[in-house]
Amino acid sequence: MAKSEKKATGKRYKICVVGAGHVGLVASACFAELGHKVVCVDNNKQKINRINKGRMPFYEPGIDELVKKNIGKNLNFSSSFAGSIARSEVIFIAVGTPPKSDGSADLSSIENVAATIARNINSYKLIVGKSTVPVQTGQKIKETIKRYEKKKVTFDVASNPEFLREGKAIYDFFYPDRIVIGIESKRAEKILKEIYRKIKAPLIVTDINTAELIKHASNSFLATKISFINAVARICDLAGADVKKVSLAMGKDKRIGKEFLDAGVGYGGFCFPKDVEAFIYISQKLGYSFDLLRQVKKINDIQKATFVERVKEYLWILKRKRIAILGLSFKPDTDDMRFAPSIDIINFFLKEGAMLNLCDPQSNLEAKKIFKTGRQVKYFRNPYRACEGCDCICLVTEWKEFKDLDLKKIKRSMKYPLIADGRNMFDKDKAIKLGFEYIGVGR
Ligand SMILES: NC(=O)c1ccc[n+]([C@@H]2O[C@H](COP(=O)([O-])OP(=O)(O)OC[C@H]3O[C@@H](n4cnc5c(N)ncnc54)[C@H](O)[C@@H]3O)[C@@H](O)[C@H]2O)c1
Repeated sequence: MAKSEKKATGKRYKICVVGAGHVGLVASACFAELGHKVVCVDNNKQKINRINKGRMPFYEPGIDELVKKNIGKNLNFSSSFAGSIARSEVIFIAVGTPPKSDGSADLSSIENVAATIARNINSYKLIVGKSTVPVQTGQKIKETIKRYEKKKVTFDVASNPEFLREGKAIYDFFYPDRIVIGIESKRAEKILKEIYRKIKAPLIVTDINTAELIKHASNSFLATKISFINAVARICDLAGADVKKVSLAMGKDKRIGKEFLDAGVGYGGFCFPKDVEAFIYISQKLGYSFDLLRQVKKINDIQKATFVERVKEYLWILKRKRIAILGLSFKPDTDDMRFAPSIDIINFFLKEGAMLNLCDPQSNLEAKKIFKTGRQVKYFRNPYRACEGCDCICLVTEWKEFKDLDLKKIKRSMKYPLIADGRNMFDKDKAIKLGFEYIGVGR
């Protein structure tokens, strides 16, 4: 690298990340690791105190180590906004954008942060939206800052949507498929390019609206792929075909690709359900009825209901039947229970009076906040213990801890050997050979 180039790209930015959640905390630790000086602020003081004591607010592989490595050096955590904003050059907004009951995104936290920035802005700042937001939110952030600013200073707004996956968040941050930056000034473009200069990934520079839309379109497309294969799985069930082989063959076609073609109990988590709904809502508001996405959501809802109905077909009366639910988090390698398919499945069984043994390698604690331990609900860390005396095992999340379970041993301890494999994870032929009744999804 030429000396002048080195000099031009060597700046370490003073960054403030607002929100110490799955995105904000990971981004803060990774920006610090890239050499920037980062303060991560959150209005949840308890959370900040815990992080400062070295206790992470959620399970994410590698985050403890990365925070520990950088804290007190390049990385600090605070619940004081004024100083953190005033001292930083770039502010990333990474607060939650949860769904409202009408499906639209609740942007009150975004507005709140923009107003706080307006009250504390003292010199040029670049304000970057990292949260997933409907198209045109950047414009609203700009208007809000102008409305409440105490001091007239120049600032830029930009969009830099985050694509990381929980469970692989740190890897995804450093090795993304692409980095998207939506800007409306050369100054903002230069700063964001410098911040990410050490990451080797295609950089897509757009206007702010386009960047915001890329995120909604990407998540909605992935959700569409999942619902598509789940619809195909229904046809496989009806016709006696095997969806695993269908998706294997489809995925070999490079134009289709194998990712997100696994039939199962449906998608969940803090992103897909709310982003699909928010995209439907904003499209409608702009004058387009996104009926395709309405069907995507409908197929996803039906998928969970169909899964439990099939268990009911086998067991007939669910009252007082004991069912083991293996996997509670919305996907493996996270303890995140937000909009997890397991929640709807558990609620269905509870309503029918079933007795549930819930088991997850990481999210039992989170699940206990939703389903209290009691007469109907027991928690297990050990899957073998969870299956003892059960009339059915429902595999809901495909943790690798469950993949190699000794089914022979499990069968011996069960009251009735029924497996409802909501992720098509077990070897169906092997399970049947061992004497299990087997319910798959589309096979
Ligand atoms: N979780 C993911 O996998 C993921 C991936 C990509 C994008 N996103 C998007 O990123 C955004 C954040 O998601 P998340 O999963 O990190 O959410 P989260 O709920 O884990 O974290 C949000 C954090 O923001 C804090 N907060 C809320 N309002 C605040 C305010 N006014 N001031 C300061 N802090 C405030 C909360 O206390 C919380 O710690 C969302 O828009 C989400 O859709 C999430």
